[in-house]
This record gives sequence, C-alpha cells and structure tokens, in this order.
Amino acid sequence: MDLLDKLRAVTARCERLADGAAMPGNTVIDRVLGPCEVVVQGRPTLMFGSNNYLGLTMHPDVVEAGRQALLDYGAGTTGSRTANGTLALHEDLEHQIADWFGKRHAIIFSTGYQANLSLVGGLCGPDDVILIDGDSHASIYDATRQTAAQVIGFRHNSPESLNKKLERLPRDSGRNRLVVVEGLYSIRGDVAPLREIVDVCRTHGAYSLVDEAHSLGTYGDHGLGCAEAQGVLGEVDFVVGTFSKSLAGIGGVCVSDHPELRALHFLARAYVFTASGSPSNIASVGAAVRVVREHPELRERLWANVHLLRKGLQEVGYVIGDSASPIVPILIGDEHHTVALWQQLLAAGLYVNVILPPGCPKDDCVLRASCSAAHTPEDIARAVAIFARVGAELGVTSVALS
Ligand SMILES: Cc1ncc(COP(=O)(O)O)c(C=O)c1O
Repeated sequence: MDLLDKLRAVTARCERLADGAAMPGNTVIDRVLGPCEVVVQGRPTLMFGSNNYLGLTMHPDVVEAGRQALLDYGAGTTGSRTANGTLALHEDLEHQIADWFGKRHAIIFSTGYQANLSLVGGLCGPDDVILIDGDSHASIYDATRQTAAQVIGFRHNSPESLNKKLERLPRDSGRNRLVVVEGLYSIRGDVAPLREIVDVCRTHGAYSLVDEAHSLGTYGDHGLGCAEAQGVLGEVDFVVGTFSKSLAGIGGVCVSDHPELRALHFLARAYVFTASGSPSNIASVGAAVRVVREHPELRERLWANVHLLRKGLQEVGYVIGDSASPIVPILIGDEHHTVALWQQLLAAGLYVNVILPPGCPKDDCVLRASCSAAHTPEDIARAVAIFARVGAELGVTSVALS
C-alpha cells in the first residue's frame, strides 16, 4: 500500500458522500452575523451546531476585553508558558478560575486537547494504570497513547464495570490508578454518574479526573460542571475544562487542590512545547468567566431552550436521545439518509453537526444539534419548522420512527 493510499481513500469517500452537494465536515462559514447566525454559501444560516452554549462569542464585555488586550499586549506571545509566554494575564486567569472553583490551584493550557495530554502525560508513566470510559473523547484516548502506562477501558457510564476493573488492580500492587471520565459526553449528550464513579474511586484509592469540556458553564449552581451539579466537586482530584465552548475562546484548564499540579509547568510536554494562549484570547476568556459568574440567568435561558428544542423535534416526529442536555442527539440511522438530511437542512438555512462512521456504528448515524442561551424562541421555532419540512420531504422522520 502506498503511503498516500489512506488519504486517497478518504478523498474518494468524501466525493461519494457529497456527490455535488455540501460535504459533511467541510463547511465554510463565510461570515458571522451573530452568536447564532452565520452565512454559509451566501445564505443566512441558523447556527445549531456550535458549542456557544451561553452565547458569549459576541458579548460586548468579552469582545472589548480581547480588543483592549490586543492593543496592550500585541497579537501573540510567540512562545510557550515555560519560555517567554507567561504574561500577567495568564496568571490572572489562573487565579480567577481557581477562585471560581474554590480550588487551590489552576493551570491553563493552549487548548482543552492539550490540557488532557498535559495532565495524563505529566501524571502517568510505566508503573501506572489509566482507566477510561469507553466513550471517551479523542483527546483522552490520545493522552493515554503518549504514556507508557497500561490503559484499561470500562463500559460507558458504568460504575459497576469500573469497579470490576479496579478490583483486579489492588491498591497494594504499587501501581497508581487514574480514572478519567467526562462530565457530559459530547455526542450523545449523556451525563456521567459522577457520585457513583467517585465512590468507586474512593473505595479503591484511585485518583479521578473529570473532563468538563461541555459541562463547564452549563451545569451546576455556579456553572462549574457536572461534578458541582452532583455535589462531588470536592472529591474529584482533577477537573479539566476547555475555553472553546461556554467560555467562547480557545484554551484549556485544570483545577485541583493538589499543590503538585503546578509542576506540570515544567513537566507536561503538550504545555512546555507549544505557544501560550494569545493575549486577546486570554483576556476575553477572563471576561467570559466574569459574565458566567455574574449572570446565572444565562444558564436558565439555555435550559429553557433545551426543553423547547427537544419538545419541538419530538412533536414533528424525530427520535432524540433521552438524556436532556444542551446537546440534542437526533437519531437517524443509516449514513445515506443522515447525510441527505444534513445537506437539505443546510440548504434550507439550518446548520447542525453530523456524526458518521467511524464516529459511530454504521447504522447509528446521528445529527447533533446544540442549544445556546442566545437562541430566541423564534430561532428554535424556525429550526423545528425546517426540520419538520425537510424530514417530511425526505421521509426521514418516518424512517426514524419505524
Ligand atoms: C470532552 C472533550 N475534551 C476535550 C476537548 C478539546 O477541547 P478543545 O477544543 O479546547 O481543544 C473536547 C472538544 O470538543 C471535548 O469534547
């Protein structure tokens, strides 16, 4: 097999899938009209495929903080945190996030992906075992692959399965065990049973890491995520978050009460060998954190929208996943119907995400809609009306119901 054959196969599959229409995974947004409206192929398009859960990408405070930092500090840091890339802005944001969580320490990373790589890579070596949920995000899988640690998967959202795996790894074996789960899973929008998982970790003396990428800002009384919502924040060793969703920027963070966390500054390859977040981005994330802390009503609006969208989609005949969250998985089935539906929705002015193999089993393709606090009831009514019309035209709603 030629080195380039893998790439040729992907190109051939894309051509087959797109067949002259829009190509899943390759949509270009020409312009942004608002937090929930963009221009695609010259058409105003309702955005129901972003992770802009609290709608802060264009919030005046967030934009102004970024603009001011750009003027004050310039466009980039041109170096890693460990070399020349630590500005007072970075440390201020770490203090701000630690304070928000009520944890002693926070360390920020250039992306959420790199937060997982840094944490798992910095913590785990050949004498350690990492236990991960079978549905983990690619960044968690990749984080484990760079270590020499043993990696064991357990059944998705199953504390019983985790317990069984840990029973075979007794605490006196001399091997550390790190359990990694997500708060809210990013495709099907289901929430981890963190209370039970944390209890299992405690019983077996295992460390826990919860990735709250999609739940930061959206769950918990203070928006700290699913661990806060389930009352176990104080029992989790490491919480990872990303800035690329509710916080409307780019970057990642880990908060912890373990003082050793700070040593990742010298140890974590995905932190040491990459440039730090740009000043404007870090400043606007800081502003976004302030907005989230000061405006809990954003979460209320988001959840009202979640209920409206779920109800609307069900009423027009779609089958959706049963876990209520800002991520609404619309279960379609085979690839052909799913791609056709996605293309027609886009042509009708509605953007959602599409999950195809290898991201899901062959006949379990999903459209993933996501809600934002910035959606208006009219946006949701329009989105549901487009879903209803296009689904009926393609006969997809009846396929899903059959
Ligand atoms: C669970 C999870 N962890 C980490 C990441 C990576 O975040 P980032 O976009 O900040 O790299 C994502 C992104 O979607 C995610 O869903």
